[in-house]
Amino acid sequence: MAIASESQHGMWSSRLMFILAAAGSAVGLGNIWRFPYVAGENGGGAFVLVYLGCILLIGIPIMASEILIGRAGRQSPINTMIEVSAASNANPAWQGLGWMGALAGFTILSFYGVIAGWAISYIFQMGSGSFTGADAAFAGNAFSSFIGDVGSVVGWQTLFMAGTIYIAARGVGAGLETTVKYLMPALFFLLVILVLYAAFTSGKFLEGASFLFSFNVEKLTWDGVLIAMGQAFFTLSLGMGAIMAYGAYLPKGASILGTATTIALVDTAVALLSGMVIFPLVFANGLESSSGPGLMFVTLPLAFGQMEGGALFGSIFFILVTFAAITSSISLLEPAIAWLVEKRNASRVKAAILVGGVAWALGLGSAFSFNIWADFHLIGQMTFFDVMDYTSNNILLPLGGMLIALFAGWVMDDQMAREELDVSPGIYKTWQFLARFIAPLAVLVVFIMTVFA
Ligand code: PHE
Repeated sequence: MAIASESQHGMWSSRLMFILAAAGSAVGLGNIWRFPYVAGENGGGAFVLVYLGCILLIGIPIMASEILIGRAGRQSPINTMIEVSAASNANPAWQGLGWMGALAGFTILSFYGVIAGWAISYIFQMGSGSFTGADAAFAGNAFSSFIGDVGSVVGWQTLFMAGTIYIAARGVGAGLETTVKYLMPALFFLLVILVLYAAFTSGKFLEGASFLFSFNVEKLTWDGVLIAMGQAFFTLSLGMGAIMAYGAYLPKGASILGTATTIALVDTAVALLSGMVIFPLVFANGLESSSGPGLMFVTLPLAFGQMEGGALFGSIFFILVTFAAITSSISLLEPAIAWLVEKRNASRVKAAILVGGVAWALGLGSAFSFNIWADFHLIGQMTFFDVMDYTSNNILLPLGGMLIALFAGWVMDDQMAREELDVSPGIYKTWQFLARFIAPLAVLVVFIMTVFA
């Protein structure tokens, strides 16, 4: 079967633009908001070690798999899975993988928009100087009264989602590529400034580093391992088709393995550097590293408030977070938008509004989880937000990633995979071994151990 050599949705203008877009997808709230707090909650060093191992042995091979399937199919993940499965004479059940990914995308985007909205609001809260000299009680109250106010949480969420829809509606070239071309370099620049700021003003840089890198394996539980693995999938945007969708727009000839490795390195560097901004500031002020999702919104503003130039640098920090979030949220929408355009011949504008609107509406449940639904527990002690976050990160993404690895390693036509990867036979075998055995088995073992251990 002849599969198109270009995507109908447009193409990245170069390999570098793909790297910026995929790194833009990868670098997000996962790196700056989630990584430091889950590392903090799970004791730091040992957690980070497992996380790094997952990036290397599971993340990179699965990212290469997603890109290669995407480029082979050149369509939305749903239609790409249909075409590539058919071309490989695979069982039609594999087609369901694209659908599962789209579902995970909605789940993630729904709560993602809420947290990103908080970050936008904190640009102004920090900039106004209200945290200058504030104490812990003030910062805690400021955060709980902010998230307790349903109107402002929904308002900021709506603003963020509207921005996401606007960029997505403009298309692959004018929307996505233009956005990442400017925001990604800006993001790296701001991050470097903040690392230097934390290093020079906190006096606790080494303490921050040792919290992240002193590998004390005794602290680790199987739950911690599952969270580290889930975090690796989430932070690399794997397991739901975002990278597959972006891979469909990658020009032929660009090296997939090299690209996947670069993206993983950039993403890991940003996560670790964010930790090197946050933990030195936290320790400099004698604060707790394990305060959960509030780490970035309570502990950090408080820390900035104690420091010279804190209002300015604090607001720069939240600009950075907002940039990182928007270059990720557009990739969460892309699989579903591309599918609607292909299937219904819808215009991109309509598709973006529809898909973004559904994610926004679902997100209201997460927005309410901090105020009017705070006492409503969907499962056990978990709020609506907790359930969305937990199921997508710890179940849907690892499961999706495992199936993608199995598909690329075992099911997809070998010749097709070999041509896309275009590497020496030795490297091909290594990738295939990781995709066939190591990545799926690792996910399986962690699943089983968290249920039974
Ligand atoms: N990788 C993004 C982050 O770290 C989140 C994301 C997950 C984006 C899945 C796309 C797909 O914030």
